[in-house]
Amino acid sequence: MSQSQKPNAKQSLLKVEGLKTHFFVDGRVVRAVDEVDLEIFRGKVFGLVGESGCGKTVTALSIMGLIDEPGKIMGGDIIFDGISLVALAEDELNQIRGGRISLIFQDPQVRLNPVFTVGSQLAEIFQVHYGISRQAAFDRSVKLLETVGIPDPLDRVHAYPHELSGGQAQRVMIAMALALEPELIIADEPTTALDVTIQAQILDLMREMRVEHSTAILLITHDLAVIAGMADFVAVMYAGQIIEQAEVEELYETPLHPYTQGLLVSIPSGLDEGPLTSIPGSPPDPGNLPTGCRYAPRCKERIEYGLKICELKLPSLQPFSPEHSIRCWLYESEAGHEAPLSSPDRG
Ligand SMILES: Nc1ncnc2c1ncn2[C@@H]1O[C@H](COP(=O)(O)OP(=O)(O)O)[C@@H](O)[C@H]1O
Ligand code: SF4
Ligand SMILES: [Mg+2]
Repeated sequence: MSQSQKPNAKQSLLKVEGLKTHFFVDGRVVRAVDEVDLEIFRGKVFGLVGESGCGKTVTALSIMGLIDEPGKIMGGDIIFDGISLVALAEDELNQIRGGRISLIFQDPQVRLNPVFTVGSQLAEIFQVHYGISRQAAFDRSVKLLETVGIPDPLDRVHAYPHELSGGQAQRVMIAMALALEPELIIADEPTTALDVTIQAQILDLMREMRVEHSTAILLITHDLAVIAGMADFVAVMYAGQIIEQAEVEELYETPLHPYTQGLLVSIPSGLDEGPLTSIPGSPPDPGNLPTGCRYAPRCKERIEYGLKICELKLPSLQPFSPEHSIRCWLYESEAGHEAPLSSPDRG
C-alpha cells in the first residue's frame, strides 16, 4: 500500500498551507478563505467542491497571485514546485503564471479579447514566450486549435471571439491555457456555462491533457458529478474552509462529515446535473461567522447527538485515515462529548 515505494510515487507539485485570504469591506472582515491547506500531485486531478460563495474562486485567484483590493492574503503559504509564490516578485510570478500554471475561467467570453482574432491572441502567447516568428506562432496556433477539437481550425483561427459558440470559446480558452504546456491547470467551473454534451467533450479533453502531458489539474466546481468522473482526490469546502478531503472513491463511498453526507444525498445518481441546494438553510455570511463549527446552524447530527461543543469551538481538520481528513467534532475523541465517534456506517 505504501505510495513511496512505488516507482511512480506521487510527486508533490503545489502545496497550499494555512491560506487566509480576507476582504475588507465597510469595516468588516470577510473571511473568504480561512486556513485552507491542500496538496496537488503531478498528473493528478484535485477536485475542489462546495456551494456558491464558499471560497473556491478566491482560493484559485490566491494561488495565481490575482487577489486585489479590498482583498489580501493575510496568512499562509503557496508553494509551487518548491517555490513560495507568496514571497515572489511580480515579474518572477509572471514567469510562473501563464507559463507553468494557467487558469481556465468559467466564462471565456469575458476573458477573450473581443477586438483580436482567436489566432492573433494565441500567436501572441507563443511569440512573447518563445520569441518565434509570427508565421511559426500562427502555425502552432492552428495546430493547437486542432488539438482542442475546434473544427476547421484553418478557418476558425481568423474568427473573433463573438463569432464562436460557447463550447468553441471554452475550447479556445483551454487552448490558451495549454499553449505553454503548463504543469498545473486551474480550471474554475470550466463547464458550468455549457450544455451537457459540450461539457462532456471538454471534460474528455481535460482527461486527455492529463494523460498525454502529465498535467495536474485543480478542478473547481459546485457539481459533485463532475468531480466523480474526473478527480483523483477531492476536497469539500464550506464557509472558507476545507471540511473533508479524501481520495475520490473513498469520499463517495464513505462520506463522514455531515455536510458531505448532505451534499451526496442531494445529487441525483448518474451524470445528471445536480445543483447543491437541497440541504435546508444556507451557509453563514463569511463577514459574520459563527464562533464554533461553521456548519452548526444547519447540522442535524449536532442536534441528534446533543453536541454542545459544536457551537463553542471550531473543529480543526484532522486525519481520520492517511488519505482522509475531516473537520468535525463527531470524529474527535478528546471533545468530551457523548457522540458516537467515527462510525462510518452511520446513515
Ligand atoms: N472582491 C470581493 N470583495 C468582497 N468580498 C468578496 C470579493 N470576492 C469574493 N468575495 C467574497 O468571498 C466569498 C467567496 O467567494 P468565491 O470564492 O467567489 O466563492 P465561490 O467561487 O466558491 O462561489 C464570498 O462570500 C464573496 O462574497
Ligand atoms: S462539528 Fe458539530 S456542528 Fe459541525 S459538522 Fe460536526 S457535528 Fe455538525
Ligand atoms: Mg466561483
